[in-house]
Amino acid sequence: MQTELSEAAIAALLERFYGEVRRDPELGPVFGRAISDADWPGHMARIADFWSSVLLKTGRYQGNPFAVHTRVEGISPALFGRWLQLFDESCRAIFVPPLAEAVHARAVLIGDSLQAGLFFRPPLAAAKRTEPGSPSDP
Ligand code: HEM
Repeated sequence: MQTELSEAAIAALLERFYGEVRRDPELGPVFGRAISDADWPGHMARIADFWSSVLLKTGRYQGNPFAVHTRVEGISPALFGRWLQLFDESCRAIFVPPLAEAVHARAVLIGDSLQAGLFFRPPLAAAKRTEPGSPSDP
C-alpha cells in the first residue's frame, strides 16, 4: 500500500489501471481502436506526465485532454462511469484509503469537466445567440 504520492506510486497506479482498462469489455475496444500496441508506451508516458502535473504539480504535462478526447471514437457518458469505477478500484488497490479517495476525487472533477465539454456544451450557434449583449440576450 502506498502511503504517499510519488512518481513511483503514480506509475504503479497507472500500470494497474490501464491493465484493467485494456481488459475491460466496454473500455478495452475503445482504447484498442485509438492506441496501437506500439503506441502504448508513449501513451503511458503522457498519462504519467498528466498525473504528475495534477498530483505533484510538476508541470510536466503540456497537452490538451479535451481536444484529444474529441477524437476518441465511441466515447460516451456511460463509459465515463465505467472509467471512473475502474479508476476508483485501482486507487483503492494501490493507495491507503485517504489517498485513494483524494486521487479518485481529482479524477471525478477532471472527468466531469471533460464530459461537460464533450457532451453537454451547447452548439456554437446557440451559444452565440445568448452571448452577453447580443440582441437576444435575455
Ligand atoms: C470514457 C472515458 C474515457 C475514455 C474512453 C478515454 C479514452 C482515451 C483515449 C483513447 C486516449 C488516447 C487518444 C489518442 O491519443 O488518440 C486518451 C488520452 C488521454 N486521456 Fe482519456 N479517456 C477517458 C477518460 C479520461 C479521464 C476521466 C481522464 C482524466 C481524469 C483522462 C485522461 C487522459 C489523458 C491525460 C490523455 C492523454 C492526452 C494527451 O495525449 O495529451 N481520460 N483517453
